[in-house]
Amino acid sequence: MSKPGTKPMDYEGILAQIAQEIAAQTDRGTPADYIPQLACVDPAHFGMAVALADGRVFTTGEADTRFSIQSVSKVFTLSLALGRFGDRLWSRVGREPSGLPFNSILQLEHEQGIPRNPFINAGALVVTDAILAGHAPREVLGELLRFIRACAEDEDIHIDDAVARSETRHGDRNLALAHFMAAHGNLHHVPALTCGTYFHQCAIEMTPRQLAMAGRFLVGASGFPSQISTGSVRRINALMLTCGHYDGSGDFAYRVGLPGKSGVGGGILVIAPGRASIAVWSPGLNAQGNSALGTLAVERFAQKTGWSVFG
Ligand code: DON
Repeated sequence: MSKPGTKPMDYEGILAQIAQEIAAQTDRGTPADYIPQLACVDPAHFGMAVALADGRVFTTGEADTRFSIQSVSKVFTLSLALGRFGDRLWSRVGREPSGLPFNSILQLEHEQGIPRNPFINAGALVVTDAILAGHAPREVLGELLRFIRACAEDEDIHIDDAVARSETRHGDRNLALAHFMAAHGNLHHVPALTCGTYFHQCAIEMTPRQLAMAGRFLVGASGFPSQISTGSVRRINALMLTCGHYDGSGDFAYRVGLPGKSGVGGGILVIAPGRASIAVWSPGLNAQGNSALGTLAVERFAQKTGWSVFG
């Protein structure tokens, strides 16, 4: 929305410039290789979508190609868990940045099996374990898909079983985190059940357009779907800003200045509060396991629009 007398933002032009800049990059990062099914994804892919509060959607590149959302799914499970348990959730998981890799086990020993935040793997396992209470994995995954489809207003969103199986076969590290938390009484289901559900939630595949549409419930703009309370929207955005990129969260906040959640599939969901939901996909990762060129693309987008939560 532009004020009278100001030039409307040329979103199409901005996205075209970004796509050009991304295409020219030679160092594209490395796709995740610890989930074999993701290792074979071509790092040349790039797609981006912006869903604006006024209902317009702008895209560039492969905005309609599906990718594995992986840890971006943690935003949706956290939303479900906060809706169901409210502040009680925080007795099982913290709200502090970890400063450590997403799959680290180090702090868990010092902190008696209570993970630092809901976005590192240990924290996300606790969140999934919480929403499993009283439900079979199939029901939880069904509820999660219904929630995401409702947010995106798109029924064509599914789990890629090959990716889920691939991670299940190589899931020792997450199983170790789950067992460790079980030893501290912070896992209420057997590790294989919680991990199995978690691997399937991570294997949801979406296009950048679908992800941008789904993220609108976190923008807090009238006219967008409002699946959760305003208070929860603000808190989830705060957690995305401080913890959404693991040990790269500070750098992401510095470069982009907007809350974001990454996944090892190379996707990032970025929220510009009151303005837009933005999704980008580029499979090559940086050293922290976040999309290297996806970060560059949203950094450029924030520079060109002037959008930032820091004024
Ligand atoms: O648990 C894992 O390792 C993956 N399913 C998800 C990790 C992830 O996406 C980290 N994000 N950048």
